[in-house]
Amino acid sequence: MINPAVEILNSKSLRLAAAVICLLTILITTASAAHLESLKSVPVPKDNPQTPEKIDLGKKLFFDRRLSGDGTMSCVTCHDPETGYSDRLAISLNYPTTKNWRNSPTLINIAYNNPLFWDGRAKSLDEQALFPMMSAFEMNQNLDFLEEELKGVPEYVDAFQKVFGGEITRQRVAMALASFERTIVSRNAPLDKFLDGDNNALTPEQKKGYEIFTGKGKCILCHTGANFTDNKFYNISVPENPVLINDPRVTATMRFTAKVSGYKEYRSLTEDPGR
Ligand code: HEC
Ligand code: HEC
Repeated sequence: MINPAVEILNSKSLRLAAAVICLLTILITTASAAHLESLKSVPVPKDNPQTPEKIDLGKKLFFDRRLSGDGTMSCVTCHDPETGYSDRLAISLNYPTTKNWRNSPTLINIAYNNPLFWDGRAKSLDEQALFPMMSAFEMNQNLDFLEEELKGVPEYVDAFQKVFGGEITRQRVAMALASFERTIVSRNAPLDKFLDGDNNALTPEQKKGYEIFTGKGKCILCHTGANFTDNKFYNISVPENPVLINDPRVTATMRFTAKVSGYKEYRSLTEDPGR
C-alpha cells in the first residue's frame, strides 16, 4: 500500500519538477527567439496584392479631406509625413466639438505590425482603415455617404475601375489605403546593414548600445524581431494622463470606445483600460 504522505510528496515534487521544466522551456525559447533582425520585404495579404496604380490611389485617398464628415480632415491630419506619420501630440486631434483620448502612433513600418491600435483591436490594415472614418470623435464620416461622394469624382470612378475592375466601395477604399500604408517603410538603416553582416555599419558607441540593448539592458525581452517589438501587451506603469478624467469630453470618448469594445463596466472607467 502506498503511504498517502509519500503520494502527496510525490505529486508535489512532480508538480514542482513540471513547473521547473516549463520555466526552463520558456526561458530557453525566449532566449533563442529574442534577437533583432533586419527588415525584410513587406508582408502583403493574398487578397490585396500591391500594384503601382493601387498604391497611387491609396495615397490620393490618404491625403483627401473628403474622407471626413465635415471635409476638414484627412488621414494626414493625424498621421503627417512631416512629423513621422504622427501628429506629435499627447492626445491626438479630434472632430469638432469632440475630444480624442489617445495619441496617433507613427505609421512608419506599420505593415510589419499586428495587431493594430494601442489595444490591438484591429487585425489588419485593410480592416483598420475604416475605423477612423467611422469614428465619431475622429473623421465622423458616414460611409454610405462617402461612397456616393467619391462616385461624384470622375478621376476616382476611373481609378477604382482600373485598379479593382469595378465600382467604388468602402472595402476597396480601405484596401487602397492599406496598400499605400504598406509602402511607408524605413529600411536599410545602418542597423539593418549591421544585422545583415556589415560590421562597419555601426560606430563603436552604437555597437556598445546594441550590446546593452540585447544584453544586460534586457530591452530585447520585449523589443525584438525586425520591428523591435514582440507585438505583445505589457503594463509598464506609465502614469495615466489626468485629462482622461478631468475633461468630460475625453472621458466620454474613453467610455464610448470601451463600450463598443465590450467592456461591461465602461461607465465607471477612470483610466484607459488598455487591452
Ligand atoms: C483625428 C486623428 C486621426 C485621423 C484623422 C486618423 N487617425 Fe489613425 N490613429 C489616430 C489615433 C489616435 C490612433 C490610435 C487609436 C487607438 O489606439 O485607439 C490611430 C491609429 C491608427 C493606426 C494603427 C497604428 C498602430 O500602431 O497600431 C493606423 C494604421 C491608422 N491610424 C491609420 C489611419 C488612416 C488610414 C487614416 C485615414 C483614413 C487615419 N488613421 C486617420 C488618429 C487619427
Ligand atoms: C517588459 C517589456 C519591455 C521591456 C523589457 C522594455 N520595453 Fe520599451 N516598451 C515597452 C512597451 C509596452 C512600450 C510602449 C508601447 C509601445 O510603444 O508599443 C515601450 C516603449 C518603448 C519606447 C518608445 C517607442 C515608441 O514608439 O514611442 C522606447 C524608445 C523603448 N521602449 C525603449 C526601451 C529600452 C531602451 C529598453 C531597455 C532598456 C526597453 N524599452 C525595455 C515594453 C518594454
